[in-house]
Amino acid sequence: LDISIDPKQSKQISDLLIGIFFEDINYAADGGLYGELIQNRDFEYDPGDREYRDKNWNSKHSWTIAGNETTFEIDSASPVHENNPHYAVLTTSAPGAILANSGYDSISFKKGEKYNLSLFTKQLGSSISKIEARLVDKKGSVLATSQLSIDAKNWQQQSAALVANADVNNGRLEIKPLSAGRIAIDMVSLFPEKTFKNRKNGMREDLAQTIADIHPRFIRFPGGCLAHGDGLNNIYRWKNSIGPLEARKPQRNIWGYHQSAGLGYFEYFRFCEDINAEPLPVVAAGVPCQNSVCSPTGGGQQGGIPLNEMDAYIQEILDLIEWANGDANSKWGRLRAEAGHPKPFNLKYIGIGNEDLISDVFEERFTMIYNAVKKQHPEITVIGTVGPSSEGADYVEGWKLANKLKVPMVDEHYYRSPGWFIYNQDFYDKYDRSASKVYLGEYAAHAPGATSNLETALAEALYLTAVERNGDVVKMTSYAPLLARKGHTQWNPDLIYFDNLTIRPTIGYYVQKLYGNNSGNEYITAASTVSNKEDAVKKRIGYSVVRDTKSGDLIVKIINLLPVAVHTKANVRQAGFNGGKAIQTVLTGRPMEKDVAPVSKEIKIESELEMEIAPYSFNVIRLLK
Ligand code: AHR
Repeated sequence: LDISIDPKQSKQISDLLIGIFFEDINYAADGGLYGELIQNRDFEYDPGDREYRDKNWNSKHSWTIAGNETTFEIDSASPVHENNPHYAVLTTSAPGAILANSGYDSISFKKGEKYNLSLFTKQLGSSISKIEARLVDKKGSVLATSQLSIDAKNWQQQSAALVANADVNNGRLEIKPLSAGRIAIDMVSLFPEKTFKNRKNGMREDLAQTIADIHPRFIRFPGGCLAHGDGLNNIYRWKNSIGPLEARKPQRNIWGYHQSAGLGYFEYFRFCEDINAEPLPVVAAGVPCQNSVCSPTGGGQQGGIPLNEMDAYIQEILDLIEWANGDANSKWGRLRAEAGHPKPFNLKYIGIGNEDLISDVFEERFTMIYNAVKKQHPEITVIGTVGPSSEGADYVEGWKLANKLKVPMVDEHYYRSPGWFIYNQDFYDKYDRSASKVYLGEYAAHAPGATSNLETALAEALYLTAVERNGDVVKMTSYAPLLARKGHTQWNPDLIYFDNLTIRPTIGYYVQKLYGNNSGNEYITAASTVSNKEDAVKKRIGYSVVRDTKSGDLIVKIINLLPVAVHTKANVRQAGFNGGKAIQTVLTGRPMEKDVAPVSKEIKIESELEMEIAPYSFNVIRLLK
């Protein structure tokens, strides 16, 4: 491979190319990124959360009771907040009663670390007067305790700090009455003191750091299909996800479980700020998934939010912009300030719709929302949608609508075979430069059986060189989905798998990380000669040359999807690199391997770049200024 760089032919490309797609799928939020350790802390799990029968899926899910002459019931007569109607009633007349929660596949505690407990309690009749909160291991050995008095007839929030005296992987939280009687309990929360950036109600530290390490330039949230839901009642409403935790409105998760809304819009925006990524909220375009009015799962009548309710819905979206960007004296900006963020979040992008069916129902509602946002907030870039695929009727109709309305950017989604990515590197070369820009919001190469391996990761890396080449049209990309809790996945493959103790980034994750940490804002045209003239061979070699004008570094990426090494030369002097240090990072292995990590080393380049590119490898050579 002979790469001939022509620095006179360079173009500005997007500096937002690599981002994150965050959706609460596969327990990505509750039981995932959200630091809460208690599952069903609000007793709001509902049998209707599940698409299939699960007799344990109800308000008592994850809670167990022990002890003689003891009962644990669910009541809703006078809740903490109307949005959280259910609470536990614990009654005991004998010593030894215990109400316990084992979190998500049990709770892990670390010796010497602090866990912050918070709960709401209230006296009922002849009340239990004192309870003990304790962290215990699987056998019941106590790691930490704290006693709390129950002395109010109205709901009272109490808190305690518990420091674990041992490392435990199979732990739980226990609430033990210290006298006979009854009490009501709700919103039982246990948070590690250590969260990402030490935020209250924050993110699990190691997972958040793994995401931050990609150096994503934006985060899209809260979905995916979760954003538009599978029925009018299932649309994600951002206002339900802010404010005091007990006042947030939990709801059924489209992926067959439950969302507590503990990780809500405030937390999403704050996380974006913490990792220096642009927030990209996606709201429903007035229609649920497949324009289906009835939940669950879209079997029902087609339609959208009734037209006479659309003004109120549009106002909700305008309120979101005011909440994010308004000053602390504005109606919605004040709520943000009261939540602890007086400075605006500086929202610049908003997605309207998620791979919707481009029907008349959609078109009418999308147009209403788009026109209103454009009129009230011309400073916001609206991102529309062109359906769930890179072809087909919705793609065609979605593009027609985008062209008609001159939508600044559209969201494209495609999950394809590695071969598709290899053979469609010219996909964006053909795009009209004067039409809407593209946000490739969901994509992934799927091997047979919907798995990922080195081959899929290299196909993605190869395709991203073509995306960089088209970085004047494609402004943003995000691999999807991002997170998956082991044993609780609804979708495969994902970028990062985890359980309570471990995180397994896939090879695709390393591709994203290498791109995120080696992106440039200037694309330098480079022609190439491949000595082997066969198309099938040439298509399996990809490269790009970009410059990061802030650091001045020149970045050469080369992908070899062939089973043999490729001798490569590039005239980097032509691009102003006069020899010196470079960091070479190589990701290589056998195509079907699933656990390969990149290796970096410093190299010296005397004159031009000349090296053997290993079979099945992704190489990033960062030539330091
Ligand atoms: O990424 C998983 C799902 O794929 C998203 O929720 C949806 O938008 C797409 O169909």
